[in-house]
This record gives sequence, structure tokens and C-alpha cells, in this order.
Amino acid sequence: MENKFFDWQWNDVDAVIYPFAAGEEPCAGIKDLYDALKAKNVLEEKAGKITTSMYQKDGKINDVVFVAGAETVDEKFCNGLARAYKYLKGRKAVTIGFNFKSVVDNDKKFSRILGELFTMADYEFDDFKTDKKESTVKELYFKGYEHDEALYAEGEVLGQQNVFARVLVNEPANIMNPAKLAKYAKEEGEKHGVEVEIKEREEIEKYKMGSYLAVASASANDPKLIIMRYKGNKASKEVLGLVGKGITFDSGGLSLKPTDGMLTMKCDMGGAAAVISAIIGIARLGLPINVTAVVASTDNMISGTSDRPGDIVYSMAGKSIFIANTDAEGRLTLVDAVTFALQEEKATKLVDVATLTGAAIRALGTTVTACISNNDELYGEIEGCFKDTYENIWRMPVFDEYKENLKHSQADLVNSASPGMQGAALFIGEFVGDTPWAHLDIAGPAFTNKAAALHGEGATGAAVRPLIELAKQLSK
Ligand code: BES
Ligand code: ZN
Ligand code: ZN
Repeated sequence: MENKFFDWQWNDVDAVIYPFAAGEEPCAGIKDLYDALKAKNVLEEKAGKITTSMYQKDGKINDVVFVAGAETVDEKFCNGLARAYKYLKGRKAVTIGFNFKSVVDNDKKFSRILGELFTMADYEFDDFKTDKKESTVKELYFKGYEHDEALYAEGEVLGQQNVFARVLVNEPANIMNPAKLAKYAKEEGEKHGVEVEIKEREEIEKYKMGSYLAVASASANDPKLIIMRYKGNKASKEVLGLVGKGITFDSGGLSLKPTDGMLTMKCDMGGAAAVISAIIGIARLGLPINVTAVVASTDNMISGTSDRPGDIVYSMAGKSIFIANTDAEGRLTLVDAVTFALQEEKATKLVDVATLTGAAIRALGTTVTACISNNDELYGEIEGCFKDTYENIWRMPVFDEYKENLKHSQADLVNSASPGMQGAALFIGEFVGDTPWAHLDIAGPAFTNKAAALHGEGATGAAVRPLIELAKQLSK
């Protein structure tokens, strides 16, 4: 999709998007239509709402979409723009003109957000449908605001990486297994200057990743330890470690999930998709920072070689773990990935991203990332990055009593401490030491059964844009 910023005219396009601010006269060319819609009481004036119509001018009929809420560039208004775009895509528009004359709050960031919006709204998961909806949209024309081409291009990168994560998550688990995930990471990573190393079972055994291997023990698919390195600042010893949960399917293991709970568990590599896609985005933007992504990928299945409730295993860090519930598998894989990031990759800051607990969903709902962090400064940075990319985050409290629950009479740690979300996070926390660390539980926002302005049903690409933004902030 091309984008051009110039004083386009009615005859240059076949569809027009008019954002308007409350109480503001629309531009002269479209005032008749605006007044008529208003008189008929069908003009939607609530921020983010759209009104669709057609209009004839200069002998040409164009689709027209009004978007309310232009007085503030915020999530609502931007979602309205995305909805208007999707509507026109459905109308088989080829060239869409945006007249941003009314955008009052003309923030610099707006160009970046525009680049993100249309890229994200464009993707649909129809790979397995015979009837595919090909987009007809070729060009987006803009006018009426302070356009920044470089920021628009940056927004497109963020949008494309959000989409890439969604592609990875949406592929069903009969196709997206650890080997396929590793292949995607390697091919896409190397295309963009990221060094990618895949470690096979023998090497994983050599590192004594007993916790990770316990989860992998039931699977017919070999585990793949995926390591991606981007060295954007060779003079610095600082390394941002991104660790993603990469369970390509979570059946629960012998602590089997009921069918309903299992149905969407292809999403359990949403954290892996986020960090894999984010590091590629960071490389594409050429940010002056060192980043390593680590994903201990496997699926969590059942077989004669499964790990069992009651098993005791040793993690790479040497701590013994009592497996009370094989469905609390994510943390078992994550702690070995965290140890690897610290010991082998010398990460100096850590962010782990995981579809980790049902408890995070019960606490905050389906659209909010739950965070636990041992570092106020790092959390502050992360919160800002979520805000800037219109994703929700909430920091969860930690009390000393919670740490007591991690203890077990037969081993150093138990893998299912309460309360659910904090117990899982603090379990990982036992392996990070003093390293500044933030844990992002994306069980809620990673996957949805409700289509929204920027994504359809299924994967959402949660956390990808905030992570890229974080690398940008940390490299300043
Ligand atoms: N992958 C699940 C968490 C999850 C649930 C993600 C719903 C997305 C949507 C995780 O492995 C899990 O099963 N967690 C258990 C832990 C419990 C057994 C201690 C949970 O949250 O119930
Ligand atoms: Zn599980
Ligand atoms: Zn899981």
C-alpha cells in the first residue's frame, strides 16, 4: 500500500475519509452532505464512531466516511479511522483520500500511528479459506496535518511486526510446532540482520535444562531453543533480554485441560511470537541497542513419556522443582530460558512475555497485560510504551507472603503457587536475581474471540509494539 501526502482532490480518489471534531464546520466541499446527514439525525458524533455515505461532486460519485472525535488523537479516534478504512476495503476502494483538516491535537506521533493503523487493520486470517478476501486498496492519500514521512514509515514497521506476530499465533498447532516456529524465526530474523541460533535437544540436555525438558518429554515434536541476537550497539555491554513463552500447544499435559479450555491453546506461543517479532522490528528500525530474544519452545502434550504431577526436576540454575500441576508448564520452560539469557547471553535487563495464567484474565479481563516487576524505573518505561501504542497494562502488587507459597517440602520450589498470576510471576522471579526485570502476562490480550478495529478474531499481536517502543526508549 502506497501512501502520499499532498493536496489531493475529489477526482483523484474513489473514497474519502473525513475526520471531524465536535462542533466544527466541515470543509466547504462536503458541507451539503454533512448538513443533510445531520438533519436526518444519522451523523454519528461520538468519538470513534463512523458514518458511511456516498456523494456526487464534480460529476463523480465517491464513497464518503465521516469519523467523529478528531478533537483528540486518542485510541477511540484512531480506532474510528481503522474502522472507516475497513469499511472502504469492503467497498473495494482502490484509492482512499484522508482529509485531516480537523485534527486539532496535531501531535508528531500521529504520523507514526497512521502508519500502524492501516497496516494492522489490513490483515485478515483467511489462509485456510478457499474464498480469500483480496484487498483492492492501492493508495492512501493524506492532507491537512503535519505529516512526518519517517515516522509514518516507522509506524508501518510497528504495524507489520504486530501482523507478523498474529500470523505466527493464528497458524494452528498442527502446523505451528516448535520446528516451524524456529524456521520462521530464522528465516524472518536473518532477512533483517538478526543472528538466529536454534539449539536442538542434545544441546538443551547439555545445558541441563531439566525444567524445560520435563515439559517437552511427552511430545512427538522435538523442542527447539530459539536464540535471536541483534547487536545495534557494539560499544555497550548492556543487553536487553526478551524471553517469550513458546508453547505451541498447551493441552495441560496429564493435568489435562477440558476441551473448552484447550480450544484456543495454539495461542500459548503468543509471548514467543511477540519477542520474535519485536526483535525483528528493533533490527528493522536499526535501533542502537543490543537485544537477545530467547524462546524455549515445545508443546505440552500427553504420552507414556509425559512429566507427571509429583515429579521433581532440576532446572538449568540447579534449583529443584516439584511439579504439582503439569498445566503450569509455561513457567517451567521460562525459568530455563531466563537462566540461559542471563548466563549465556549476559542479559543486563530482562522482560519476559507469556500467556501464563488464567488468573491474569480473571483479575484484569481480556484486554489488559498484567505486569510484575522488581524495578520501578523499568516498569515506568514499559508503562509509557504501552500507553504510546494504545495497549493496556496494569502493575500487580507483590506481598512477602506470596513468596512463602513458592516453597515446597520436597523441593526448592513448587510450580503452582498462589495467587495464580503473582505465584507464576514470582516463580520466574526466583531465577532473575537482582537483574531489572519485568514479567508481562498476556494471557488476556494475546488472543480474542471478538473482532475489534485493529484485529479480527484470534491473535492480536499484543505487546509487540510496546516492546519495540521500549527498545527505542532504552536506546536513547
Ligand atoms: N496457558 C495457560 C494459561 C492461559 C489460560 C493462557 C487461558 C491463555 C488463556 C497456562 O499454561 C495454564 O494452564 N495455567 C494454569 C496454571 C495453574 C495450573 C497453576 C492456570 O492459569 O490455570
Ligand atoms: Zn498450561
Ligand atoms: Zn500454557
